[in-house]
Formats: sequence, C-alpha cells, structure tokens
Amino acid sequence: MAKKLWEKNITVNPEIERFTVGRDIEMDLFLAPYDVLGSIAHSTMLQSINLLTKEEMDELHRELREIYAIAERGEFTIEEGVEDVHSQVELMLTRKLGDTGKKIHSGRSRNDQVLVDLKLYTRNQLKLICDGVKGLFDSLIAQSNRYKNVLMPGYTHLQVAMPSSFGLWFGAYAEGLTDDMLFLQAAYRMCNRNPLGSAAGYGSSFPLNRTMTTELLGFDSMNYNVVYAQMGRGKSERNVAYALASVAGTLAKLAFDACMFNSQNFGFVKLPAECTTGSSIMPHKKNPDVFELLRAKCNRLQALPTDIIMIMNNLPSGYFRDLQIIKELFIPAVNELKECIKMATYIIQRMEVNENILDDPRYDAMFSVEEVNRLASAGMPFRDAYKKVGLDIEAGTFVPDKKISHTHEGSIGNLCNDCIEQLMDEIYSGFGFEKAEKAENALLKR
Ligand code: ARG
Repeated sequence: MAKKLWEKNITVNPEIERFTVGRDIEMDLFLAPYDVLGSIAHSTMLQSINLLTKEEMDELHRELREIYAIAERGEFTIEEGVEDVHSQVELMLTRKLGDTGKKIHSGRSRNDQVLVDLKLYTRNQLKLICDGVKGLFDSLIAQSNRYKNVLMPGYTHLQVAMPSSFGLWFGAYAEGLTDDMLFLQAAYRMCNRNPLGSAAGYGSSFPLNRTMTTELLGFDSMNYNVVYAQMGRGKSERNVAYALASVAGTLAKLAFDACMFNSQNFGFVKLPAECTTGSSIMPHKKNPDVFELLRAKCNRLQALPTDIIMIMNNLPSGYFRDLQIIKELFIPAVNELKECIKMATYIIQRMEVNENILDDPRYDAMFSVEEVNRLASAGMPFRDAYKKVGLDIEAGTFVPDKKISHTHEGSIGNLCNDCIEQLMDEIYSGFGFEKAEKAENALLKR
C-alpha cells in the first residue's frame, strides 16, 4: 500500500522527502487526538449528507475512538514513510476498515484538517495555560495578603524613592496577569471558530453542513469565508503568540525583580534552599538559576509573535507549505510557557521576605516625602516643606517617622486585592471552556 496519500505512479526522492517532512512527525504527535476529534465530526457530517452509511460511520467512529485512546496513552506513532498525522490516521482506518476508511477524506483536504487540528489543540492548551496563570495569580495574591504590612523601598532609576510594600509588589504582578488573561481570552475567542469544510481553502462541491461540524466540535461559530478560514493558518497562532508573549513579559519582569531582590546587596527575599543551585568553586553560593532561566525563556518567548509573522505575513492568500514550519515554533513555545508558569508558581508560593529591611539606615531617605506631606498638612507650603526636608537630609539631621499611612485605593494600606480577584474571576469565567469540553466528550461518548 502506498504510504503517501497523494502517491500515484512516481516515488519521491528520499532526500526531498526528508526535507519536506522535516520535524512534522514530531510536531504532529501533539495533534493526533485533535485530528481524531475532527474526523469524528467530519464523518458524522458526511453521513448526514449521505456520503457514508450509518454502518460505515459507526465503524469509523469506533476505530477513531480507539485511535484516540491510543494517543491518550501516549502510544500513537507515525510510521516510517508516512508523512504526517493526517496520513497516519487515514492509514490506520483503511487498514482496519478497507474502503470505508478510504471514504473519510471526501470533502476535506489536509489543509483544513491541519487548521482544525491546530485550533482544537490551541483551545485545549489555552485552557491549561489559563489554569496555570490562575494558579500563579492566586499564589501572588496570597503572598500579597500575607506580607501586606511589610514595607520595602520603592525605586525610581533604581534609586531609593518612596515606601512600597511586599503587598504592593506581589499584588502588582497578580494584577498584571489579569490583563494577560484578557489577551488570552481574545486569542481563545478568535481561535474558537471552525475552519473545517474550507477544504483546500476554497470549499467543496459536496453540500457540506459546516454548521453541523461547528456545533459538534463546540466552536463558537465557523470561519465563514473559506478563503479567510485558510488565511487563519498562522494568524491564529500569531494571535495566541501575542497573548503568550504578554504572560511571558509579566513573568520575565517578575523574575528579574526576584533575582535582584535575592542578591545579598538587597537581601529582600529568600528563595527556598531547594530552589537554588550551587557553584562548583564557591562553596557559599545559592544561586537563583530558576528565575534566571525563567527570565531568559520568557524573554525569548516574547519574540514568538515576530518569528511567526516572519513566516506568514509575507505570503499571499491560499495554502503554502511554509505554514508547516509555524508548528515548530508554536508547539514548543506553548510547552515552554506552561513549564515556566509552573516553576514560577512553585517558587513564589515558597518565597519568604525579609521583614526588617527598613532597620538599615540607607533606606531612611525614602520617608522624605512622608515628612514633606506631614509638614504640608500642618500648613507649611509644600515647596518650603520640600526644601526643609531636603536640607535636613543633607545635614544628616533627618529622622524618619516610619509609621506611614497610605489609604487611597491601590496604595500600601488599601491594596484592593479583593477587586483584583474579582476582575480575574470575571475574565476567567468569560472563556466558556465548558462548551468545548462538553462537545469533545460527546464526540468521544464520555
Ligand atoms: N504538514 C502539512 C502542514 O502542516 C499538512 C498540510 C499538507 N498540505 C499540503 N497541501 N501539502 O501544512
């Protein structure tokens, strides 16, 4: 049996084959369960328009669910000489079911197959990423609440500036994640539209029922225009990449702060010993390698949208093999971000802060504005108070009053963490993950 779906009477040069297949085998393994889901929906629809009998459809569904279980157990493989996941699934069906297996490709192309696979894959991965982000968010809020009364210096120009607190510091990154979550949601919604039925990118002369596959797969709508559906290849991944880059940006900044605040010259935070690494020569070292790697990985992840754009934005409409390469950028990046979120959460939960930072007189000057404000509240014109405190500091006679009172929204004494949590809850519940989950379970009869 020919292993290429398109092989007729010529055999491909093995070097050409190696080059064109590239890393596709490795990447397509991530798509296998979704290729099966798409095929269950597609074959259901083919039966509804009489291109398959009920018996043929049932047989296909039985085999497809079997293949899904194989993929779930991590046992799905793409055989030597088989080009991609789509070919492998069709080969398995045809081996088992003969002609019935050969009927499943009516009205579709690998172009819309890979589109739908990627959308289902992305939808599921975004759910995992959102759950990860939510877990990190909860840990940051918990730390913010736990240390809300512990002051630390705030910096501008990396010069000691104003009083800040660990409540503010942890909480700031939590609130940052709410914006990232909104980006993830926009990406999810744009992704959650059905491209199946666009076939090679121009539709089909079979009377396909695309509304049916849209509902079966739990998409919010279809990508209506078949040419636009094909144009979504790359664009959808790029949209998601923007959202991933946004999360990565938040993590990279957090990681930099953590490395810096962990240094002996700051001594603001302590990382759990099991989260640090040693030196081969300096016996005293406990290095924050986890945060350093997080920073590098997350900085690199911020290049992902650009990497994808370089491949897809310079193409005209219609399918091109160029698009295959996007999988090699996208899939590993998704995995990398999940890992980074997991590590960041683990270490943030275990991070301890130094509650006595302000005993060190080098931070006394951060109370200068507090003193100016006190004098101004007592009637001295602000500019005169500013000058007096400045001169006192110069003369070494400034005595800081470290009992401060910041009460407005979002300040040290009024973090508004409950409002930030509410914001996150609202955004998270706006995804509608349940709809997709329910549809997939129904296709699998679970
Ligand atoms: N591996 C291919 C990709 O990712 C699948 C689609 C192949 N289509 C084609 N016309 N060669 O793009």
